[in-house]
Amino acid sequence: VILSPDGAQVVLWLHIVAATVWIGGQITIAALLPLLRGQPELLERGARRFQRIAWIAFGLLVVTGIWNIHNAGITLHEMQADARGRTLVLKLGFVASSGAAAAAHALVVAPRAARTSSGGLRASSATLGSVSLLAAVLAALYGVVIAEQ
Ligand code: HEM
Repeated sequence: VILSPDGAQVVLWLHIVAATVWIGGQITIAALLPLLRGQPELLERGARRFQRIAWIAFGLLVVTGIWNIHNAGITLHEMQADARGRTLVLKLGFVASSGAAAAAHALVVAPRAARTSSGGLRASSATLGSVSLLAAVLAALYGVVIAEQ
């Protein structure tokens, strides 16, 4: 006999798979950047295709995340009242920062940086991308902390 996954575990599993896409995708794109720099058209097309997958993963993280909160029995009251709830609020701050930095990077700054030779725009674009990745990694860390409680 083996153990089978229950509903809450399937939701948590989907949450983790989506997190690997959001985080791993950003790392992969960053790793390919030096190769694609010389081919701006390919870089732009690749970035646009990656956007679709990345935002689907982010949407899945939000939906399965809300479901996780429900499955873990965390209430709105508990979010301020106990350590697990406050840790969740911190985690959600990282999630919001990751999403906001990624949106500013992908929708506003990176497309402009690709079309100019401005070092400033490229530096802002790289910073926003790094902030998004760092915030996502921290959101994952505090997710593990909550799940282990
Ligand atoms: C950048 C986005 C996110 C990433 C990278 C992320 C990643 C993770 C990871 C790695 C875990 C640990 C799973 C485990 O150890 O079993 C986790 C748990 C959790 N996440 Fe997220 N997550 C994100 C967004 C969200 C959002 C938007 C919510 C809520 C709206 C959320 C709510 C939770 C909860 C409640 C848990 C704990 C589940 C439990 O207690 O079993 N997450 N997350």
